[in-house]
Amino acid sequence: MTAFAPLPAFYDDLDASFFELWRLLHEGPALRRNAFHMPALATVDADGHPQVRTVVLREADPAAGTLRFHCDRRSAKAGEIAATGRAALHGYDTASKIQIRVSGPARLHTDDAVAEAAWAASRVMSRTCYGIAPAPGTALPAGDAYTQPEDGADLDLARPNFCAVVVTATRLDFLFLDRRGHRRAGWERGAAGWTGAWLAP
Ligand SMILES: Cc1cc2nc3c(=O)[nH]c(=O)nc-3n(C[C@H](O)[C@H](O)[C@H](O)COP(=O)(O)O)c2cc1C
Repeated sequence: MTAFAPLPAFYDDLDASFFELWRLLHEGPALRRNAFHMPALATVDADGHPQVRTVVLREADPAAGTLRFHCDRRSAKAGEIAATGRAALHGYDTASKIQIRVSGPARLHTDDAVAEAAWAASRVMSRTCYGIAPAPGTALPAGDAYTQPEDGADLDLARPNFCAVVVTATRLDFLFLDRRGHRRAGWERGAAGWTGAWLAP
């Protein structure tokens, strides 16, 4: 007979599942091995096509229900977020067998205090990326036909290309896989706060 690991404390506890979801997201930026360190970001482009790519999660704030990542304001994703005002994030952690999906309004911060604090906290290596020319996604005549600031270059010149994106979660979906029975739950945020329910997996 196969021995099963004990079920997690959140298994049949909706509030504890909500807490676990935010705990994992909150830990994501600090824990490199946590799947929520590098979630997939989904947007919809001008043709209505879904677009998805990896980003580094910089902060998840359980109290505010927000997530922050950084990108180049010249990038396709920045344009798509500016146009639609919406984004979704997804991660699956194989260790805990938990998938988290988050969606909601998203806002680009380019010149305000959020952007300044994010830029100030960024490492030199990260800042260098924002000095790439031509802009991300531009067709090149050869793979190396682009430039990036040299070591010691004035990275303040890259600052205008930097933006912090804050996604305000209004929908959450949590899926825990277990052979004894998967557990899925969803939450929506209304004026009175979060409302959650178990969902068929
Ligand atoms: C591990 C990893 C981490 C990444 N982190 C970011 C990030 O934090 N921000 C970002 O804009 N792009 C990041 N990228 C690059 C994007 O996935 C994407 O290739 C690029 O930004 C262009 O996307 P877009 O054309 O949809 O804007 C990362 C890629 C990988 C593989």
